[in-house]
Amino acid sequence: MRVRLKGDVICTVVILLLLCVLLYTQYGFPVTLGVWSPGRSAASFRALLGTQGESRGMELTNSVFKDRLKCQQAEEEEEREKVMERERPTHPTGAVVLTRPPFDFQLYLRNKDCRDFELLLNQPKKCSGDPFLLIAVKSLADEFDKRQVVRHTWGREGLLGGLQVRTVFLLGIPKNQSALPLWDRLLSYESRAFGDILLWGFVDTFFNLTLKETHFLKWVDTFCPNVKFIFKGDGDVYVNVDNILELLQDREADGDVFIGDIIFHAQPIRSRASKYYIPEIVYGQGIYPAYAGGGGFVMSGFTARKLHRACKEVELFPIDDVFMGMCLLRVGVQPSPHEGFRTFGIVRPSAAPHLQVFDPCFYRELMVVHSLTVPQIWLMWKLLHDPELRCHTKVAPVLPFTWGRRKAKGNTHTG
Ligand SMILES: *[C@@H]1O[C@H](CO)[C@@H](O)[C@H](O)[C@H]1NC(C)=O
Ligand SMILES: *[C@@H]1O[C@H](CO)[C@@H](O)[C@H](O)[C@H]1NC(C)=O
Repeated sequence: MRVRLKGDVICTVVILLLLCVLLYTQYGFPVTLGVWSPGRSAASFRALLGTQGESRGMELTNSVFKDRLKCQQAEEEEEREKVMERERPTHPTGAVVLTRPPFDFQLYLRNKDCRDFELLLNQPKKCSGDPFLLIAVKSLADEFDKRQVVRHTWGREGLLGGLQVRTVFLLGIPKNQSALPLWDRLLSYESRAFGDILLWGFVDTFFNLTLKETHFLKWVDTFCPNVKFIFKGDGDVYVNVDNILELLQDREADGDVFIGDIIFHAQPIRSRASKYYIPEIVYGQGIYPAYAGGGGFVMSGFTARKLHRACKEVELFPIDDVFMGMCLLRVGVQPSPHEGFRTFGIVRPSAAPHLQVFDPCFYRELMVVHSLTVPQIWLMWKLLHDPELRCHTKVAPVLPFTWGRRKAKGNTHTG
């Protein structure tokens, strides 16, 4: 596979890069087509290559300038708040002041309008030929190994049962850049070598995953408008793409499809200790709309375009899964639960030690298995693709236990 890539790389990369620059200049500027500004293209090129000419090449482009200015002000404010936090005197009684909430919601609310960021690495030709399935995987810059294992296992591009499958990885700017020196070089080389990196100019944090969601939908709308279906998931999952294709084959691509591990009637967590803590000023209602949790979900291109338009009108919400639920509610699309997407498996080994047994037959009927390590993903793929594999029955596995708080209603079997 590498050899084949190498042959094409030299020629296509030049064309691809030029295309990126061209599309990028169009994308960032409301300029009429055909107007070519050399100064601007130089800046874009610098951004793509991550040249460290001036202090921060990526900020030199003057596109979305107003937004950037607004965001910078917000960042400065954030910095000031951090200083104040540090200088805050300890409690007069000498007791340790209650640990600060893990996340500054006031600041989040103030910055919510800061939601348009540049596309720094693009794959504008990714969807040429209108693929049947686009696989989009959330990834962090330093997770090169995870991307590699996905590229070589379930995320492999090409024809699968006669259906065209393509893959992209969704990235933001790494938060701790000293942990990954030359990250910008790494990503631009990786993008050239594999043609599957989408990088946006926001900091890649847990609470910015919602931005990843909205920017991906915008990208689909612009660069992948005719894709039939999209699987969107985490980087630490194993996906049975064959099963997903089977599930989708008799679905209408130009109708609404949204399938996953759907969580109904979930309540916002009001305990500050939780990673998912949401205070009432951010979300006052007692129940979240139905949303897809777990490692991934499937939607039609039709639904993705609808969601793109809807999400623009929904206020940013720090939990990306729930945010998508809000967008779904807005367009009136009812997400369908499916047993194959259920979030269990090697998730909580202590709660179900017997699930740690790596029985491929057990996983064969599932769509998504999540929270896997790199070797586990590889092993899972190998086991499931072993021609020697013999399973006694093709019946879906009986679930050994259920998490009490999950309540599914409606049709539980959509496939
Ligand atoms: C960033 O990464 C470096 C190197 O791994 C580490 O020493 C440093 O503590 C990290 N900084 C933060 C803020 O996490
Ligand atoms: C999201 O990204 C923006 C732009 O990089 C940054 O200013 C902001 O602090 C990030 N927000 C969170 C919650 O991490």
